[in-house]
Amino acid sequence: MANKVTLTQFIIEQQRGLPDASGTFSLLLNNIVTACKKISHLVNRGNLVGVLGSAGSENVQGEVQKKLDIITNDIMVDALNWTGHLAGMASEEVDDIITIPEQYPKGKYLALFDPLDGSSNIDVNLAVGTIFSILRCREGVDPAPEDFLRKGVEQVCAGFVLYGPSTMMVLTTGHGVNGFTLDQDIGEFILTHPNMKIPEETSEFAINMSNQRFWEPPVQRYIDECLQGTEGPREKNFNMRWIASLVAEVYRILTRGGVFLYPLDLRDPAKPGKLRIMYEANPMAFIIEQAGGACSTGRERVLDIKPTGIHQRVPLVLGSKNEVERIVAYHLEG
Ligand code: F6P
Ligand code: MN
Repeated sequence: MANKVTLTQFIIEQQRGLPDASGTFSLLLNNIVTACKKISHLVNRGNLVGVLGSAGSENVQGEVQKKLDIITNDIMVDALNWTGHLAGMASEEVDDIITIPEQYPKGKYLALFDPLDGSSNIDVNLAVGTIFSILRCREGVDPAPEDFLRKGVEQVCAGFVLYGPSTMMVLTTGHGVNGFTLDQDIGEFILTHPNMKIPEETSEFAINMSNQRFWEPPVQRYIDECLQGTEGPREKNFNMRWIASLVAEVYRILTRGGVFLYPLDLRDPAKPGKLRIMYEANPMAFIIEQAGGACSTGRERVLDIKPTGIHQRVPLVLGSKNEVERIVAYHLEG
């Protein structure tokens, strides 16, 4: 049998030879992997271990928290706060930035995460995920919220784990995108999807159609043209998917192409989009671009946005390059 490349081996080999690689980054990633394996186990055990259902609380964005939102957040924090690799953390589930406890040394990285993406899926036994983003922190500072508010282009690593029929990790450090499948027998992620590339052309879109009346004209136009199929200007039929888990949608797009939209929503000016830049849009944009796709708000490249708040929301359009460029062009024409 061919030698299987584990995620640990892959990362160490990729880091080897990089000018400022001290091994710290590989160790940090290993701790994230350990946390995600724990989450995978819990998600898989579900109600056998009593983790499903509501926690009876709301997060900073006013969303009802599931028990697993809180448990998975604690798993991430507990796996990372003692390591000495981080100067601080930020989580979708926690209002303020998360500081490193006094008794532990501080490191040179910042970790940002959405511990359980798509958590409305959990009680109905559908796909959920964990998304993470790593930034380098300024040397020797006790990070303030502003230290996290950096453009997506500054990310040193982004990844997600999809807890689906298989548990998969997808990762980029800026040298392409690679996918790993968790081998439950040996407890290791194995490289199964090297150098993932998104097809440029697609005829599949993902959008929550129930919000249609709140979209802007460019998005109305794009979806309307897709729906007209062979009789419309696109002269081909489109298929639609909506999994309600960004991780699962992005994984599908990485494997067979497509476009995902959670566009500007005119309902509430305080919520220009649904998805959060620091924990969702930026890491996914980094991965999508590294796989040859594109990611925009409709008006600007996501990775170029200077964030103003750690829980800031942005409109999001990502996937196959030609479709994203078409949607951007419709916005610019409008
Ligand atoms: O984290 C937000 C999220 O759950 C994404 O994973 C997903 O793409 C989206 O919200 C689903 O939104 P809706 O509830 O409108 O279907
Ligand atoms: Mn999410």
